[in-house]
Amino acid sequence: MIKVLFVCLGNICRSPMAEGIFAKLSKESSLEVSYDSAGTSAYHIGELPDERMRETALEKGITLTHRARQIVREDFDKFDYIIAMDKSNYENILNYKNRINKAAEPTIMLMRSFDSQKENLEVPDPYYGGNDDFERVYQMLLRCNRNFIEFLEEEHGA
Ligand code: 4NP
Repeated sequence: MIKVLFVCLGNICRSPMAEGIFAKLSKESSLEVSYDSAGTSAYHIGELPDERMRETALEKGITLTHRARQIVREDFDKFDYIIAMDKSNYENILNYKNRINKAAEPTIMLMRSFDSQKENLEVPDPYYGGNDDFERVYQMLLRCNRNFIEFLEEEHGA
């Protein structure tokens, strides 16, 4: 079982969408996976994903029911892969891991390192944007997830 945690700042836009797409695509693959998402911040704990993100997801046949939570130290033991949406998330995750000095070593990566269209390495935060930004984030996360799943299939021989 490959365990994947997607992480952004608020856990109400990017990472729940990333998780939702991963859930759908991995079902269509031969991979045995479990997945979750979390935020580096505590801003939105307990909330459903942003309504605009849920709407965008629903248009693609994905229902997002995740409740926002903050990343916790146990996540570093539990997950094999921690996938950060932007560089700030990535650095915060690494700093947190170093602070708690966990021996467990999940592979921590940037989501956009899997993008075939890499104008930069960050999934932009759509929170203060418009509907187009949510659609753009969806398309980006779809491309990244397709390649991420291919990567997992190669790594884990599925
Ligand atoms: P997310 O977007 O990190 O993709 O969930 C955000 C949502 C809310 C805030 C920041 C980012 N906020 O500052 O409240």
